[in-house]
Amino acid sequence: MSITVRAAAKINLRLGVGAVRPDGYHPLATVYQAIGLYDDVTVTERDEWSVAVAPLGGIDCSEVPLGGGNIAIRAGRLLAEHHKTDHAAHIAIDKGIPVAGGLAGGSADAAATLVALDRLWELDTPDEVLLELAGRLGSDVPFALIGGTAYGTGRGELVEPVPDGGDWWWVVVPDGTGLSTAAVYEQYDVLGLGGPLAEPADLLSALRAGDREALAAALLNDLEPAALSLRPDLAATRDGILRSGARAALLSGSGPTWLGLAESVDHAREIAGVLIESGVRCWVAPGPVAGAHAVTHG
Ligand code: C5P
Repeated sequence: MSITVRAAAKINLRLGVGAVRPDGYHPLATVYQAIGLYDDVTVTERDEWSVAVAPLGGIDCSEVPLGGGNIAIRAGRLLAEHHKTDHAAHIAIDKGIPVAGGLAGGSADAAATLVALDRLWELDTPDEVLLELAGRLGSDVPFALIGGTAYGTGRGELVEPVPDGGDWWWVVVPDGTGLSTAAVYEQYDVLGLGGPLAEPADLLSALRAGDREALAAALLNDLEPAALSLRPDLAATRDGILRSGARAALLSGSGPTWLGLAESVDHAREIAGVLIESGVRCWVAPGPVAGAHAVTHG
């Protein structure tokens, strides 16, 4: 018996980052959106824990840990521990989300594993318990469970859905070299960044109204200067996206992936065509899309 659960990549339409907390994390006021790039996670009952990763569409998976350090195995073990069972599973990940790209691919795998094993073992774990376990696994994992568009606070693990009247299209431009999330946050501290946080009223009202122009003006990622100071070469990618006709360019999370905001699916394909022509690899993805959900039962 196997179950496959699909989980989406996330982007941050606003990533407001405060000054570092005593526990080393940063307080966030962020707006997440799930976009149409996916990892599919298939779990199968086994006596021992194991994980395998297969790339979809040319994703480089060489940096994904394959032992107990893989976040999907940590998620499985945490769920088993919570329910005091000694079940184990093989976790097969078909990876369509670029690794270490600021798109929370690992968090998607963890969320998908929680949902898949909950089904496989018929645990019926209440949503609030799954969200709490998810928050222990990583700051972005609760959002990967709920998907859509959501406001995130705390260190990002406290999420609540927000109204989104838009039908958004993104051009997603990954980078060959991943960036460590921890390193970007550290650089943020080195640069002395991090002021008071506020709810992003401008962004939330642009989303509610589905107003593309207002959204383009409201996109903001506080980590951008930190990522650019570690990787100044990333500015060229951003400039290329804007030159290709995107309404705005935004760094995804801690980077190095960039996002271009398009007018429509056709416009997104047009921008992608220009970028591909100039030798830049990219994808077109809609948002918002659903959180972790089962796609097959075997
Ligand atoms: O929570 P997660 O394991 O995804 O975080 C990875 C790293 O990113 C943390 O170890 C921390 O260095 C940094 N981080 C942070 N503040 C946050 C989220 C993550 O400093 N709100």
